[in-house]
Amino acid sequence: MAKRIDVSGLNAYYGSFLAIEDISMTVEPRSVTAFIGPSGCGKSTFLRTLNRMHEVTPGGRVEGKVMLDDENLYGTGIDPVAVRREVGMVFQRPNPFPTMSVYDNVAAGLRLNGSYKKSQLDDVVEKSLKGANLWNEVKDRLNKPGSGLSGGQQQRLCIARAIAVEPKVLLMDEPCSALDPISTLAIEDLIGELKERFTIVIVTHNMQQAARVSDRTAFFNLAAVGQPGKLIEIDDTERIFSNPSVQATEDYISGRFG
Ligand SMILES: Nc1ncnc2c1ncn2[C@@H]1O[C@H](COP(=O)(O)OP(=O)(O)O)[C@@H](O)[C@H]1O
Ligand SMILES: [Mg+2]
Repeated sequence: MAKRIDVSGLNAYYGSFLAIEDISMTVEPRSVTAFIGPSGCGKSTFLRTLNRMHEVTPGGRVEGKVMLDDENLYGTGIDPVAVRREVGMVFQRPNPFPTMSVYDNVAAGLRLNGSYKKSQLDDVVEKSLKGANLWNEVKDRLNKPGSGLSGGQQQRLCIARAIAVEPKVLLMDEPCSALDPISTLAIEDLIGELKERFTIVIVTHNMQQAARVSDRTAFFNLAAVGQPGKLIEIDDTERIFSNPSVQATEDYISGRFG
């Protein structure tokens, strides 16, 4: 199958510190890939290289290649803002725009990218909220502040905001780690639905979650603090959790470290 994402020889630095080294992997369209590994091994850093957010950090620098379909995101003349439209991101803490209504949160990305008629915006807002399994809960309070929703609802609002601009890829960095178990399951169910339309890459410290939601799992590790994180292996999730190729993966998933 054609690859949606094809990373090769990727290094990412903070100043002179090499945080992740020589990462290569591919991701197929309409799949869920989970990143697991001990804290500090570079999962978040790598995720942010996939939509050119790493370089927003002072000293943040990337070497190597990230192909999104036929385009190298680090090629000359590529507009990072356009990249972030194609590769959306959902963060650990739900971060709706605090002064904006539910409606305006979802419409925000579209309004930045062009001018739309009210009826077009209404359609996209409804479709996105439905797509994020939030519509029924908020359809009567679209003009209330997004920050008034519960944590789980806020996270689904952030997902609605991200999908409203129809990205190709959705990156999620521990999207459930601030949520209660019920809200977590709601997001996991949603990920299963969203993968019909989007390619999803999710960082999780919860191995049951990786096993439940993902098709492929990538295990990252670092030899020691101060050493760069590396991709140890990536394989079908079933295989990673039953019969991984590398001993370190086995040790990690069976809870022997990390
Ligand atoms: N803004 C930053 N400035 C400097 N170093 C950073 C920054 N963010 C992360 N790091 C370092 O990069 C390495 C990888 O961090 P991170 O990607 O957050 O790992 P993970 O998400 O797997 O816990 C760690 O050594 C971390 O301390
Ligand atoms: Mg992280």
